[in-house]
Formats: sequence, C-alpha cells, structure tokens
Amino acid sequence: MRLQKYIAMCGVASRRKAEEMIEEGRVQINDKIVNEMGIIVDPKKDTVKVDNKIIKKEKKKVYIMLNKPIGYVTTLKDEKGRKIITDLIEGVDERIFPVGRLDADTTGLLLLTNDGDLAYKLTHPSYEVTKRYIAIVEGVPNRFELEKFRNGMIIDRKRTAKASIKIAKKYENESILDIEIHEGRNRQVKKMCEMINHPVKKLKRVAIGELGIGGIEIGNWRHLEEDEVEYLKTL
Ligand code: URA
Repeated sequence: MRLQKYIAMCGVASRRKAEEMIEEGRVQINDKIVNEMGIIVDPKKDTVKVDNKIIKKEKKKVYIMLNKPIGYVTTLKDEKGRKIITDLIEGVDERIFPVGRLDADTTGLLLLTNDGDLAYKLTHPSYEVTKRYIAIVEGVPNRFELEKFRNGMIIDRKRTAKASIKIAKKYENESILDIEIHEGRNRQVKKMCEMINHPVKKLKRVAIGELGIGGIEIGNWRHLEEDEVEYLKTL
C-alpha cells in the first residue's frame, strides 16, 4: 500500500496532508525517515511513525443487536457443543463478542461489539444500566411478593438493588410480568422470581436502557444506527 494512503487509513490525516508530512520529513518507516513519494509499505511488517509516534490502522468498531433465540449460548465457544450466538451473525469480519450474557433458554436483545470500553460500561454494576425483561411466570404474584421484588432481596448472599415489576397480564395459572433490573448478576431475574415463589417459565430481554429490540425477528440481527451507539455511550 502506498505510504500516504496508509497514513490516511490510520486516521492521521488526509492523503494530501500525508504527502506534505512525508515531504516535511515527519514520516519514518522502520525508524528511517522517508521523504520521497511512491513508497510502498506493508502494514503487517513495517512500522510507520509520524512525528515519532507509531501509527496503526484504526479498527472499525462494530455494534450489533441480535434477537437471541432459545438454545444458543452467549459464549464464543461451548464445551458441550451447543450452538453459539456468533453462528447467527454472518458477513461480519470483525471479531465481536457479546455484551454481558443471556441464559441459553432466554430470548431477546443481545448486543455484540468489538468495543471493549462500551461493553465494560454496559455490564459493570456501578453503571446501573437498566435492563427490561418480559417474563412468563407460574402463578400471579400478590402485592407483598411484588413489594419484596421491588425492595431487594438476598440472592447469593448479596442484596439486589431496587427493581421494578408490573403485572402486564394475569391468567389463571400464570402471569406475564414486565421487569426492570439495574444489575446483571448471573440468572438474576430467574432467581428473583423464584424467591417470590413464581418461577420463570419463559424469559425475554426487550430493552437495554431506552434501546429496545423493536421489530427484529427471533434469530435476526442488525447493525446499530450511529445515534443508537451514541446513546449507549451516554448511559
Ligand atoms: N436473568 C436471568 O435469569 N436470565 C437471563 O438470561 C437474563 C437475566
């Protein structure tokens, strides 16, 4: 690749400006100043410096939302040979990883990215990002059980943070609950529902903050829009 093109691809400057930088003697390949045009670099082998700083190709950041189906695990490998979520994402060359996790039998919104900073913020408990779930549970919780759920309970020897819960629909033997939690502990929603004696039969995550799963069909995915990425960064 031509040197000026490489400099531009690294996000240092436009190609024209890169040519000026070369002429000015500000560019080095493998610690030797080059000030002629037309030099070819091999980004894999050569070290290019501008103003004595090594430059690198900017890695494209990828942000994807997937509507996870049942039966897929949110790890990148599975020793038991179960299906993994990245099998569902075709045509993306970057190495992406899931943001947090969903149980194999949970469906719904899962973000995948190669942006480690954003993934860290969205999953770290101190950032308290709201996650919204729809759960079908056994029976119908009474107001004491709902209150217990909201105020926090001891799970794995630690109190859960305040949570929201509403009954969206009641049936004779089950109900549909609309739940919001601000942590991301292992199997948290299921454990909390179990603690109030209404085990989860089905669980779906529908939103992370204000970002909802929308009309994406189960098993489908899409890239996030720029404003959606910007929004996630503000959480
Ligand atoms: N809580 C759970 O219990 N399971 C999930 O997959 C996500 C949240």
